[in-house]
This record gives sequence, C-alpha cells and structure tokens, in this order.
Amino acid sequence: MCGIVGYTGKNNAREILLKGLGRLEYRGYDSAGVALAGESGIYIQKKKGRLKELDAKEIPSTNIGIGHTRWATHGKPSNENSHPFSDCTGDIAIVHNGIIDNFIHLKEDLINKGHEFTSETDSEIISHLLEEHFNGDLVDTLKIVVKMLKGSFAICALQKDSKNIAVARNQSPLVIGLGVGENFVASDVPAILDYTNEVKYLEDGDVALLTPNEVRIWDSQDALVERDVVEIQWTIEDAEKGGYEHYMLKEIHEQPKAIHASLLGRLGGFTEVDLGKYDTEFIRLISCGTSYHAALVGKYLIEDIARIPCTAELASEYRYSSPSELHPFTILISQSGETADTIAAAKEAKRRGCKTLAVTNVMNSSITREVDEVIFTHAGPEIGVAATKTFTTQVIMMYLIAIELGLKTKRLLRETAQEYRDELRRIPRHVRVLLDRSEDIERVSEKLIGADDIFFVGRHLNYPVALEGALKLKEIAYIHSAGYPAGELKHGPFALLTNRTPVVAISVKDHTFEKMLGNIGEIASRDSPIIAVGDHDPELEKLSDDLITVPSVPTLFSPILVNVVLQLLAYYTAYKLECAIDKPRNLAKSVTVE
Ligand code: F6R
Repeated sequence: MCGIVGYTGKNNAREILLKGLGRLEYRGYDSAGVALAGESGIYIQKKKGRLKELDAKEIPSTNIGIGHTRWATHGKPSNENSHPFSDCTGDIAIVHNGIIDNFIHLKEDLINKGHEFTSETDSEIISHLLEEHFNGDLVDTLKIVVKMLKGSFAICALQKDSKNIAVARNQSPLVIGLGVGENFVASDVPAILDYTNEVKYLEDGDVALLTPNEVRIWDSQDALVERDVVEIQWTIEDAEKGGYEHYMLKEIHEQPKAIHASLLGRLGGFTEVDLGKYDTEFIRLISCGTSYHAALVGKYLIEDIARIPCTAELASEYRYSSPSELHPFTILISQSGETADTIAAAKEAKRRGCKTLAVTNVMNSSITREVDEVIFTHAGPEIGVAATKTFTTQVIMMYLIAIELGLKTKRLLRETAQEYRDELRRIPRHVRVLLDRSEDIERVSEKLIGADDIFFVGRHLNYPVALEGALKLKEIAYIHSAGYPAGELKHGPFALLTNRTPVVAISVKDHTFEKMLGNIGEIASRDSPIIAVGDHDPELEKLSDDLITVPSVPTLFSPILVNVVLQLLAYYTAYKLECAIDKPRNLAKSVTVE
C-alpha cells in the first residue's frame, strides 16, 4: 500500500520524511524514496526494498521534501519504478498514490513531444505534464495538470529552490498537518502524528499549496476554500489501527474493501495468468494453517464448479510424501509468501515436474520466486497474527480460479459463470451487513466464556469454515476447540459432549441441511449448548440456543459470510478474556522456519 509524506519548514526534512515513512511501514511496500529540494536542484534517493536500505544520508538534507513508499501496481518493484519521479530537467519532482487510468495516451503524447521516461509507472507522467505545462507557478500548473488526469490520485510536487509543496487529491486520501513555521502533508495521519495532531483533510478535487507559514486550498471549481481543522485524538499506535482497538478487528472490518480489491479487474477472468494453458485433469492445493482451510474450500469449489478432481494438502505433509506418476497442476496458497513449509512444498512440486501457481498477498515474497505463476490477493497488509481478510480473499481467489477452470474445461456454462460472478460482486455488501450486526455476535460470544472445549461443525463447503472457526478461537482466545464435519461427531467426539461443551453448528440450506438438522438434534440431546450460524429456519431455531443468521445468498457463497461471523465470535470471546489478540502467545505472523 503506497504511502506519502511531505514537509516544508525549518527543520531537517530528510529525518522527518524517513520517520514519517517508517510510521507507514506497517501498510506494506516494496520500495521507498525521498526527494529534497535545494537551491541547486532536487536531490532524489530511491530504492527497491526496505526503508532502512535507502541510504538517504547520501543526499544533502534541506528543509523541504517529499517521500513515498510504493506497493507496485504499474510496473514491477524496482529502483526505476520507485517514487519520487522528476521531469526531464530535474527541476520538478512528484510522488503519487492511486492509479492514472488514461496514462498510456498521455504518455504517448508526452513522448511525441520529446519527453524521456525512466520508469514503467503511470505516475511518472505527472512530473512530465508539470514540466510541459509549467507557467511559472507550480500550484497553478498542478491545477491545469489534474484536469487532464482520469483515475485516482494523491499527488505531491515540489520544485528546485522553492519552499512550496503543491498537492492534489482525487479518490486517494491526503491530509495536511499544521505546524508553527512548518507544515506537513501525508496520505495517512500516522506519518505526521509525531509532529502535529492538527490536520485538514482534503476533499476530492482539492488542490493545495503548502509553505512553511501558510496552507491554501482550492476546490474543484478553483475557489479558495477553508477546510475544517480537525484535532486528532489518537496516539500513534491507535492511528495505525485506524481507531480500532485491535488490528484484527480493523482487518475484519476491512474485508468488504479487501474483497472488492481482489475482485477488481478479474471478474471477466484473470489477466495475469492464463489457466487454460495448464493440464488441469487433476489439481492439488497446498498450504498451511488458515491458508489450508482456504485450500479446502477451494477443493470443494473446484470439484463443484469445474468438476475437476482436486486435493487439498498440508505443506508440511506434502513435502515428505511419496511422489506418484501424476503431475497435477499445483496451487500453493500462502498469505505471507514466506512460510517455510509452503515454499519447500513449491520446490518439491517443481522437482516432481508439476506446474505451479502461488496465491499470495505479498508482492516480491519468497514464494513468488519459486513458482511458474503468481496471483496476488490484494487484501492489503495484515498486521494481526490471526489471518482474517487474507483468508477471505484467498477464498475469493478460489471462486475465481474454479470459475475460470470451469469455463476453460467447458464444464461450466457461460451464463452460470456470469451468475456466479454477479454473486461475488455482491459479497462485500453482504459482509458489510454482517459487520453492522457485530453487537449481536458479541452478545452470543458470552456463551463461549468458561467452556471446557468447543466444537465447530459444518458440512461440505462449510466443513473447512468450521475448521477455521475453531483455529481462530484457539489461537486468540486460548480455548481448546476442534472443527469437525458434522457427520463425524458420533464417531468418537460425542464422548466429550456435556453442558460445558458448546457446539457452533454451521447450518445453511444446501443439500446437507436436513442431515445437519439431524446432527444438531443428536448434539442437543447431549445437553451441549448450540450456537447455530446460517440460514433462518424455524426447526433450526427450535433446536439451537442461539441462531446467528447470515444474509441470504446461494449456499455456494455462504462460506465467506459464515466465516465473518466466526471471526467476530473468536474476537469478542478473546476480548472478554483479555487475551493479547493481535499477538497471541507463541505465534508469529509468518512462519519462516520448518
Ligand atoms: C492463523 C494463521 C496461520 C497461517 C499459517 C500459514 O490465523 O495465520 O495458521 O495461516 O501460518 O501462513 P501463510 O498463509 O502466510 O503461509
């Protein structure tokens, strides 16, 4: 996720920019850079990789500068594609967040006029447009340039031998921080909260000028406007959590946005990977932990939608299994892309002659270098150790892959594929509805406090969701819980059922619903409290102590919604038990050892 910081004042701009960018590191990025304006020119230092590798001390410090952390969109992560970008003369530099939709046309035009580009990015056109249309006043020129841009942008620009920063915003956040004899600008409040808690949020269409002593803002009609001064009440740590008490809760709430981002541009098929070129007689999905649960959902989806035999395997088991005659198309799922077992499994699959695809959330992660192709989930950075939005977007990828495979193998009708895609498009809205009902779920979580053991049961597509619900609860609330296919309890675990072993029963009205009601009846007769999660049904209501309903969707799409309920159930249980929700004991965000 890209980040922006800008400063003009009397202090060391380089230190302020680096500290500010450091505050945005948690959002994830693949390269970083700063531009400092001095009397004799603009000094730029930028590099692929971490902020600490930037060697910013190699350039002189001044009292005005802009900085950027980049999360690659147009063009791979590289030194050349990192921001800031300067124009041909080197007298102007810019940083940009967002996507310029019409950049190809603008770039061609600029090239025809003799401009030379150094990167593959859409952003670089902005510095050249400023050069091309420069009328002696940077902010005036920026007003002209933004009228030419289509898309989303937060732009900061500076000029050699000037104390002015010109900024503009459209659909990409930008906030101005007010100081005494100094002013700041940033994409996100944490970047400037060390220096000021008085800010002005820019609105879409605004262009602004920052000098050390003044901030002037014009709206989209070029009228000089005042924006309210807002006093930020958060601490740095709070701000990074966007006002949520825990990263996990924030990330649960970010899911509608994350799903939208992972679907973006893909509802007509993947542009980055042609699944049709692979032999897909048989598919193997490999992963660990929560990602394994996404793989299990994927197995059901690939079998149901594309009618292709599919297995889901744990990476730690696969890597020591015996090779067979088969060379299935192998999909490795890992949110971090750094899990040692999954990386080893990718290498092993390749060694066995399988074609490999990674589904990951982290660009440039190790797994991307081990596989033939990569699909990114685009969930945005996930800080909480317990995977939430990354799981959801992995499952979204499973739908998209299953649909794509179904079409390629012609086992899925085009019209049905279209219905599925329409359904996926509606999922963020349904998730929002559930999130708005968090209080109901919080109330039910009381029932899990003090339990000896908790079972999560489901069938078919919701069996992996039961596994995931149990994993979330044990990892953050430290309560022993187990996920089971509902039909399996009677083969042993029944012995444990008492009135101190609540059972969370996922019950959606699919082809297993009648059987599920039977299973719940059996559980109820052992006195276990039953929390049902699923569709509204009078019989189900009668059998269960609590029923948390999910928005009504075709049952094929129920796993994502049911899982949001289970995430919140785990969260509120852990909250009440005062557990270290974001950093559960003994666990790490990525498991880079075997
Ligand atoms: C649980 C959790 C872990 C990870 C597992 C695999 O909430 O986060 O179980 O899912 O360690 O990690 P990735 O997906 O990074 O390979």
